[in-house]
Amino acid sequence: MDFFTHKNGELFAEDCKISQIASNVGTPFYCYSQKTIERHFRIFDDVFAGIAHTTCYAMKANPNPAIMKVLAKLGAGADIVSGGELEVAIKAGINPNKIVYSGVGKTKAEIKLALEHNILQLNIESEAELDSINEVAGELNCKARIAFRVNPDVDAQTHEKISTGKKENKFGIEWQEAVSLYHKASKMNYVDVTGIDVHIGSQLLKLEPFAEAFQKVRELVLELKQIGINIKNIDLGGGLGIHYQDGEKTPELYDYAQVIKRAIGDLGCNVILEPGRVIMGNAGILVTKVIYTKKTATKNFVIIDAAMNDLIRPALYSAFHKISLVKSPDANKPKQKCDIVGPVCESSDCFVKDYDFYDCDNDELLYISSAGAYGSAMSSTYNSRPLVPEILASGSDYSIIRRRPNYEEMHLLEEVPEWL
Ligand code: LLP
Repeated sequence: MDFFTHKNGELFAEDCKISQIASNVGTPFYCYSQKTIERHFRIFDDVFAGIAHTTCYAMKANPNPAIMKVLAKLGAGADIVSGGELEVAIKAGINPNKIVYSGVGKTKAEIKLALEHNILQLNIESEAELDSINEVAGELNCKARIAFRVNPDVDAQTHEKISTGKKENKFGIEWQEAVSLYHKASKMNYVDVTGIDVHIGSQLLKLEPFAEAFQKVRELVLELKQIGINIKNIDLGGGLGIHYQDGEKTPELYDYAQVIKRAIGDLGCNVILEPGRVIMGNAGILVTKVIYTKKTATKNFVIIDAAMNDLIRPALYSAFHKISLVKSPDANKPKQKCDIVGPVCESSDCFVKDYDFYDCDNDELLYISSAGAYGSAMSSTYNSRPLVPEILASGSDYSIIRRRPNYEEMHLLEEVPEWL
């Protein structure tokens, strides 16, 4: 459930009128609802009440510092994937003891930063990374708390580009290697083996792949125990899917929690969860305006001022995001099939094809739903388009949590060599 609703024919984010924000900040812009973020986090965290757990928000979904602060205030931890994310998380007030570090390519500088902040755990994805961590921890004369991310070779049944748990994917250590690597790590001077980690993919709409992967993790934890390696933290990653289409069936949070409790609830370990999309996806929209409409012999195009550089998911994964009018249409407003496209010079800059949509006027405001996760986070300045503002609505207040840069600011880091 979210707090984007039409009242008296106008879209509101909580009690803020979207058309009002649009006339103040211009379009396009992302708008998030604080109450929705809080609600999603609480519901997620509460469903695991009764089992020792740490909910580490996967901040790659949306790392805006204001969003991180909202979550820090709720006691969230963070799943980070870079030194940059670590800095933002710490500044936002996330407890380092609730930060886990994922990713196949942590540099020595990033490992050092993580150890200096004494984070909860580094999730290791190769033997070479283990050696690096042991070396950097040795230089700092500390012990790095580590887990191995294991690759269970399970098909997450999601889009191939966001599937991570098959043996041909770059993620995790091979199942057959796990025991020997744990054994090696347990003998090292500067690492402390604390956990095990698995993450098989994102936007999963079925629970069976989770169940299969978690069962395999259980068996490995028991096997490790037999050789004297006691796992404290079981990190089960993120990946739970959300609604993008009306009527789309998504797993119930309660059932997801049951799958986890059944697989590992009796092992006496702390469970780490890394939800990203379920917290932020439906807590944000992208508000945009029609620039032109164009009719050709074969198509109707609605050209909007948001583009693939602002929200790349449709172009990259053929992902569907619902598009609607900010002002509720009259019952007799005509409809037609159209392609809704952005201004970027690529045919892939298309949000939706053959969409049954209203005849639009120039300057009409539209909004793209479910854009809070992997929206702004994956945006770029392709075609020299400025990054779009991000707005956080809370009750009847809203705040610009990232403003639109002007053209000069966009180019501040660029230099033309003297010889030119
Ligand atoms: N943990 C790890 C280790 C991850 O790699 C990810 C996401 C998550 C947690 C959070 O997964 P979530 O709960 O959000 O599904 N850009 C893609 C999604 C990439 C996901 C990357 N990893 C998209 O727009 O669909």
